[in-house]
Amino acid sequence: MKNSSKIVISNLPAPLRLARPGKLVIWKVKGWEKSHEELRIKNYELGIMKNEIEKLKNEILSNLAKVKEERVLKDLEIKYLGRKGELTKILRSLKDLSEKEKKEIGQLANEIKKEIEDKFSEAKIAISGKSGQERVDITLPGEKIERGHLSPLTLVQNELEDLFTSLGFMVLDGPELESDFYNFTAVNIPPNHPARDMQDTFYIDKKNKDGEYDLVMRTHTSSVQVRAMQKYGAPLRCVVPGKCFRCEATDVRHEHTFYQIEGLMVDKGISLSNMKAVLETVAKKLYGEDTKLRMRPKFYPFVEPGANGEVTCFLCQGKGCSLCKNSGWLEIFGSGLVHPNVLKNGGIDPKIYSGFAFGFGLTRVTQLKYGIDDIRLFNGGDLRFLNQF
Ligand code: PHE
Repeated sequence: MKNSSKIVISNLPAPLRLARPGKLVIWKVKGWEKSHEELRIKNYELGIMKNEIEKLKNEILSNLAKVKEERVLKDLEIKYLGRKGELTKILRSLKDLSEKEKKEIGQLANEIKKEIEDKFSEAKIAISGKSGQERVDITLPGEKIERGHLSPLTLVQNELEDLFTSLGFMVLDGPELESDFYNFTAVNIPPNHPARDMQDTFYIDKKNKDGEYDLVMRTHTSSVQVRAMQKYGAPLRCVVPGKCFRCEATDVRHEHTFYQIEGLMVDKGISLSNMKAVLETVAKKLYGEDTKLRMRPKFYPFVEPGANGEVTCFLCQGKGCSLCKNSGWLEIFGSGLVHPNVLKNGGIDPKIYSGFAFGFGLTRVTQLKYGIDDIRLFNGGDLRFLNQF
């Protein structure tokens, strides 16, 4: 026994110790390493390890199957897979084995470890209903859903449409890209007439077959007057809300794009007093019952006589302030009795019918109603402005 060395099989699982009482210490003689006895013991030892791992796996799986609560699941995870967990301990002990043994049992152990980890993730999903990352904390306050709303222009437009329909007016629409004819010539502003200079016009850079520029961005809703007459004839009551365009240098009071609402009433025996009655009703509806209306002569080519309409300044009640430039009045529309030439262009006999027309600056009316001091805010797209309405 001189050259012999001793291998001590420590940490042997209990069954091995019981099975071979008194033979736990094996004396090896030099050259015995591959002896039958040693291999037999080693194989026996590995078999027991495999059994242990399988047993632990079954234990874990049966425990997992019973889990209903997240907290219990967490405890199990720590118990088996944690740093000091039972499965971790076994896996760690594999490092003491020889290369060949490691290969054999290590592969099994890793497969089982992977299987168990997968089962844990499945259990987690089953319990929480979602995968780990996308869990929803239902106790958090909900996300506010932003709701859009109507522009102040639309609010005033709707209000006026309601009023006019209640007075028996139709609500009509017309093209924003308009022919030179309907925008100007048809409403008594023939080509080269100086009145064209009153409205700075965007002409479209496209000539017709006669070599003329005959398309414009409409400069007013009056462009729909003759269209409406041609389509519906007399008697006629209609309003036309819509966008208009002028080649303006933009500032607090001027915009290239703004809104108007046109009105037209044609019937037998229509006079200025009918016009005043309708417009006074509108002014009171917009700015309150105490509002007064005054009309002063003003030239528009498509009406005769023509008048502008002013209402009592709602800010100072007519006393004079910066809004009304100390006049006590605010101008909100142009109006007049429809010019006979316009009726003729619309196919209506001016000897039988007469009518009145008016054009409210819808943008201006809205500015005055809500105290909006800069016209550029309407098209500016600033939500801080729009969200106030
Ligand atoms: N179209 C005119 C403008 O834009 C307003 C108006 C309409 C005047 C109808 C009289 C009659 O200024």
